[in-house]
Amino acid sequence: MLDRRRFLTVLGAAGAVLGMRPAVAEAGLPKVAVSKDPSCGCCSGWIAHIKAAGFPVEVHETPEVNRVKVRLGVPNSLASCHTAEVGGYVIEGHVPAEAIKRLLADKPQAKGLAVPGMPIGSPGMEVKGADPDTYEVVLFGPSGQTTFARYQGTRPV
Ligand code: CU
Ligand code: CU
Repeated sequence: MLDRRRFLTVLGAAGAVLGMRPAVAEAGLPKVAVSKDPSCGCCSGWIAHIKAAGFPVEVHETPEVNRVKVRLGVPNSLASCHTAEVGGYVIEGHVPAEAIKRLLADKPQAKGLAVPGMPIGSPGMEVKGADPDTYEVVLFGPSGQTTFARYQGTRPV
């Protein structure tokens, strides 16, 4: 039978395993590689939001962002301005960092997340004095599209 010390060691190991599950460690966040048009400013706002959330960011400026979307399989109907890659997923548009962290932790079978268009008040699309839009973060992939999260501005709703 287990003596007390051995029992506590086993408990500790179990706790460590459980503790690892819920979130990706802040220090271990993977790099976000963003493709953006050099003349588009809201993308820079989104990049600042992603950096502030702890992600390392690599920026690729290109006047051909649409080609990147086609190459990465972003459906036309979900298109926004910038397109990013992180941890094997595609991130289209002004997706909140919090939703990306959940995607990386949950690892669903999907191509990625998109916030189609340019909702007012989404990260990088803040407009002084304007009411933030309510919008969906769409999980998309070979098996279709589902709502991954809903936000109003930068707040989940
Ligand atoms: Cu934008
Ligand atoms: Cu932009």
